[in-house]
This record gives sequence, C-alpha cells and structure tokens, in this order.
Amino acid sequence: MPEKPQEAEVPEVMLATETAAPKRGAEEDKAGLLAVHVIRAVGVKRIFYLGGEPVNALRGVDLSVKRGEYVSIMGPSGSGKTTLFNMIGGLDKPDQGHVYIDEVDVAALDTFELAWLRCHKIGYIFQTFNLIPVASAIENVMFPMLFAGTTQAEAQQKAAELLKRVGLGARIFHKPVALSGGQQQRVAVARALANDPAIVLADEPTGNLDLHTGEEIIRMLEGLKEDFHVTVMSATHDHKMLAASDRVVYLSDGAISHIKRREELDIKFGTLQGDDKGVG
Ligand SMILES: Nc1ncnc2c1ncn2[C@@H]1O[C@H](COP(=O)(O)OP(=O)(O)O)[C@@H](O)[C@H]1O
Ligand SMILES: [Mg+2]
Repeated sequence: MPEKPQEAEVPEVMLATETAAPKRGAEEDKAGLLAVHVIRAVGVKRIFYLGGEPVNALRGVDLSVKRGEYVSIMGPSGSGKTTLFNMIGGLDKPDQGHVYIDEVDVAALDTFELAWLRCHKIGYIFQTFNLIPVASAIENVMFPMLFAGTTQAEAQQKAAELLKRVGLGARIFHKPVALSGGQQQRVAVARALANDPAIVLADEPTGNLDLHTGEEIIRMLEGLKEDFHVTVMSATHDHKMLAASDRVVYLSDGAISHIKRREELDIKFGTLQGDDKGVG
C-alpha cells in the first residue's frame, strides 16, 4: 500500500506553479528575465477598526523576496510587522493589494488550498514559541508532518534528525516546561522545518530571549537558510538581531521607509557586547 495518501491531494494551483518555476542561473537572475520571487507583496493595505476608528496597519506595502534570501523586517512595536507576516503566511488577507507566494495569489485560494499552503510552504516561528505543552519536543516537531500525511515512523525519524540539527538531540523526549526559552525556540525552529517549507516566517523570534540566546537563534536561522535553501523572513525591533540579514526592510507606521542591503549594515554579532569573536 502506498504510505503517503496526501501526496495525490496537492492542489493543482500549487503544482502548476512549482513545475513552472524554472531552474535559474546567475546570468538569468542578473538579467531579471526569470526573476522568480517566492514572496511578492503588491500594494498591500490592511485596515482594522477599533471602536469605529480606522487603524491603518499597512498602508500599501510593496516587497519582493527571492528564494533563499534572509530578510529582516525591522520596526517599532505597532509598525505593522505582525500584520504583514499574517498576510504573507496566509493567516489574514489584505483589504487592498495582493500577496503572491510562488506567484500564486493567496487571496484566490480556497480553504483547502490555503491549508495546504500553510502546512507545506510556510514554517512559523513565534516570539512565545507556541509549543504544545503536554507534548514532548519530538511530538511537537512530528505534528505538522502527521497533519501532512507523513507516516508515524517517518515523522519520528525526521523529527529526531531535525532536533539533532538544532542541537537538541539529547532532549527529544523533554516537554517544553523542562526546556529553557532558547531550547524551546530551537524546538520551534525544528517544527517550522518539518514539512520542508519554502519560507520560514519568524515573528520576533528573539523577543523573549536574552541577547546571547537570541543571537544563537538568529545564527541558527542563518545556517538553516544555507543548508535548507529556505527563505527566511524575521521580524524584530532589535538592531542587534540584524546581522544575519541579506536585506533589512524598515517598516514605519504601516509603510516601508527604506531598505538596506547586507553590505550597508555595520552591525556584527557580539560587537555590542564587546565580544568581537561573535557567537558561534
Ligand atoms: N486585530 C486588530 N484589531 C485592531 N487593530 C489591530 C489589530 N491587529 C493589529 N492592529 C493594529 O495595527 C497596527 C500594527 O500592528 P502589528 O502588525 O501587530 O504591529 P507590530 O507587529 O509591528 O507590533 C497597530 O496599531 C495595532 O494596534
Ligand atoms: Mg508584532
């Protein structure tokens, strides 16, 4: 019997875009002939109403992110980072504008297609870790795979490998309560990678961690970007967490104020602690 019953249920709209995404060389990238962006936000607006008063959480955001890029979204509390992540992660829809994931308009997906996108294409990491407290580390990492139709044995093996990769090989049967904040966030990183996502969205992943532990998590995300060829979008309001970024997008009052490339950043890991060896 075939062991992956969900495989046949990949929404056609997703299959079409995956096969349509051609292999690209540096020359093609340079020429912009096949500028395939894994994320494209076009004129994204989101308005909330609080007591009848409009709150312009996003005022028309345009942003394209390439496969394998590490983009940090930098902005103070209330600038719209989470709202933008919710749009890109398919958890909310723009009032105006469009979000394309692999050139598929997220707003055009039906419930099943959206669920498929969230499960397979995107890994989520939150400030508060959001692990299931009654489940062990390995079970937390297995859950998304089981939802996706992976067999128990396969999910178990892969979850153990992922936990080893994030440095938790010796603690796979620990429950979250028996893990430090940094260790819990490592479990969350492993969980985010469970279904081989194209994109990892990390919303203030270091917000509940001390500086050193936060830097380790950012370093880890950077390493995963290299190893798994995953696109990372990480929100922060902390300048010290920008060093891994290929680009930093500055968000202010629901709009992009400016964008800096890696070369333009002068922030290095550890330098603000007087530790020029950085964090390894
Ligand atoms: N569900 C909501 N209802 C009303 N206002 C909201 C809601 N979500 C966010 N906002 C408002 O939108 C703005 C952007 O919020 P958010 O995206 O959470 O910012 P950040 O993540 O950068 O702190 C804020 O003014 C916030 O109060
Ligand atoms: Mg937020």
